[in-house]
Amino acid sequence: MTVTFDDIQARESRHVLQTYKRQPVAFVRGSGSRLYDVDGREYLDFISGIGVASLGHAHPGLAEVIADQARTLLHTSNLYYHPFQADAASRLAALSGLPRAFFCNSGTEANEACLKFARRYWHTQGVQGRTGFVAIEGSFGGRTMGALSVTHDEHYRAPFMPLFDTIFVDPAKPEALAGAVTDRTAAIIAEPIRGEGGVRPLSREFADAIADVCRRTGTLLIADEVQSGLGRTGYAFHSQALGWQPDLISVGKALGSGVPVGAALVSERVAGMISAGDHGSTYGGNLLATRAAAFFLEQLTDGGLLEHVKTVGAHFERLLRALALKHPVIVETRGAGLMRGLELRIDAAPVVEHARQQGLLVNRTNEKVVRLLPPLNVEQADIDRAVGMLDQVFAVVAQEVPA
Ligand SMILES: Cc1ncc(COP(=O)(O)O)c(C=O)c1O
Repeated sequence: MTVTFDDIQARESRHVLQTYKRQPVAFVRGSGSRLYDVDGREYLDFISGIGVASLGHAHPGLAEVIADQARTLLHTSNLYYHPFQADAASRLAALSGLPRAFFCNSGTEANEACLKFARRYWHTQGVQGRTGFVAIEGSFGGRTMGALSVTHDEHYRAPFMPLFDTIFVDPAKPEALAGAVTDRTAAIIAEPIRGEGGVRPLSREFADAIADVCRRTGTLLIADEVQSGLGRTGYAFHSQALGWQPDLISVGKALGSGVPVGAALVSERVAGMISAGDHGSTYGGNLLATRAAAFFLEQLTDGGLLEHVKTVGAHFERLLRALALKHPVIVETRGAGLMRGLELRIDAAPVVEHARQQGLLVNRTNEKVVRLLPPLNVEQADIDRAVGMLDQVFAVVAQEVPA
C-alpha cells in the first residue's frame, strides 16, 4: 500500500503533539541538494533542514560511515571510552582554537552546556553572584530553559517565565553594553549572525564593543555558532570574521549533517574550572554521532568544503544582489557565504509558498525575511537555478501583493 500525504497528515494530527506549523508536503527521499516528496515530486532544497544537511541528502560517504558504525557499535554511554569523540574533538579544536569539546545532541543543549560552564567558571573561583547573562536583541539560543532564557523573542519566552536573569542589548547601541555588563554577569552570549532573528550580522563596531567589555571585566564570551559555524559562512566559525576569541563556542546543526550531535567548545581557562560530574548526557558523543561529526569535519577541511563555500558563497551573493536590484519588494540582502537572508517590504510567507509550489524550498524568518541555507556542498548550477526560480516567484508575488 502506498502512503499518501493525506494519510500522513491525518495520522500526525491525531498522535503528534502539535507544536509545529508544518507546510503541506511530506518528504521521503533525498539526493544532494534535492528532496522528493511522497508523490515523487522533486524540490531544490535551499534550507537543508534549517542548516543541518551540510553535506546534502544521502551523501554516499556519510551513508557509508553511518551504516558501517550501525553494523559495528552504536552506543556504549559515557561510562567508557571509544575512538570517535577524540577524533571529532581534535578536529573541532584545530578549527576553533578551543582545545576541549563537550558533546551533546542539539544546539540548545550546546548552549545549555555553555551557560552552565560559564556559571561553573565563576563558582569554582569562589566568586559569588556572577550568574546572570547578557544576550542580544533578536537572538535565538534554543528551547530548553537556559537556552530559552537567552532567547529574545517574547512569544517564545512569555509562557515559560520565570527564566534566568538575562539583559538583552540592542546591537545598534554598542554603548549600552557597558551598562548591561555588571559584576553579576557570568557571560555574554551572542550569535555572530543572528539566524532566526532575520539573518542579521553583528556590526564590526558592536562585535568590537563585546570583545572590549569582556576584556575589561573578565566576562566570558560565548559565541553561539549553532547556525553560523562550521563553514556555513565561509569561515570555520563566523566569530573569526569578527576578530573574537570566545571562551566558549556552541555548535550543532551542520556538525552531523543530519545525525543529531552538538558540542560546547571550551577554552583551557574555562575547562580548568570544570570537574567530573559537572555536566553529562547519556547519548552525548556516542559512537554514531561523533563518527558522523568526524566525517563531516574531515570533508570541511581535507575535503575542500570550506573553500567551496567561499567560492559559491561569493557567487550566491552576486546573484542575490542583482535580484534585489531587480525586485523593489526586496529591501536588503544580508548574510555571508551560504547563510543568506532577503529582507522584504512584505511578509515573506507568500514567497515561501510560491517557491515551494515551483519546487524550491526556502524559509521565512522574522516575518519579512526569506532565509536561504543550502547544503554546504551545493553546486553553483543549483544556485543559479534557485535564484532563477526566486526571480520568477518575486515577479508573481509583486503582482499579488502590493509592496
Ligand atoms: C543560533 C542558534 N542557536 C541555537 C539553536 C538551537 O538549536 P537546536 O534546534 O538544535 O536545539 C538554533 C536553532 O535554530 C540556532 O539557530
